[in-house]
Amino acid sequence: MSTQATRQTTHRTEAAKTDNPDGFSPEQVKNLSGVLNALLADFFALYLKTKNFHWHMSGPHFRDYHLLLDDQGDQIFKATDDIAERVRKIGGETIRSIGHIARLQRIADNDYDFVPAHGMLEELAADNKALVQSLRETHEIASEANDYATTSMIEVWIDEAERRAWFLFESTR
Ligand SMILES: [Fe+2]
Repeated sequence: MSTQATRQTTHRTEAAKTDNPDGFSPEQVKNLSGVLNALLADFFALYLKTKNFHWHMSGPHFRDYHLLLDDQGDQIFKATDDIAERVRKIGGETIRSIGHIARLQRIADNDYDFVPAHGMLEELAADNKALVQSLRETHEIASEANDYATTSMIEVWIDEAERRAWFLFESTR
């Protein structure tokens, strides 16, 4: 085999690996990308709502709640890159814009001028619980595709979302 032929074969092999590293079928890539991108849109929507409430917090517990939501926002944002890169690793395409997020998000925005502190915490607690449900559903789809890396990452995100919901709930009692 000539050097050029060897190079072409290597290139082809690498291209095939990049396209589909874990051997998922095109159908599985489509399904997994679909549910992961919806999840990614939810994470961005929840991130921005958490920061929105962090910025607009008021009342006697301002400092505690302001800092709590800052910590939670950081944790939510950190997951977004992992979700998007997981989609790329399995050979899919991921979110490209704020408009794309708006089309996919299932967690609603809150654009009210004023939201009382308790209302903010209760809404975020409910959103984090809804996120846990979406994560569980995504876990089932990833599990059916034997996508162990995705299921393992999702398990961590479920624990984190449940912790956020717990902190938010206990702060409103
Ligand atoms: Fe801040």
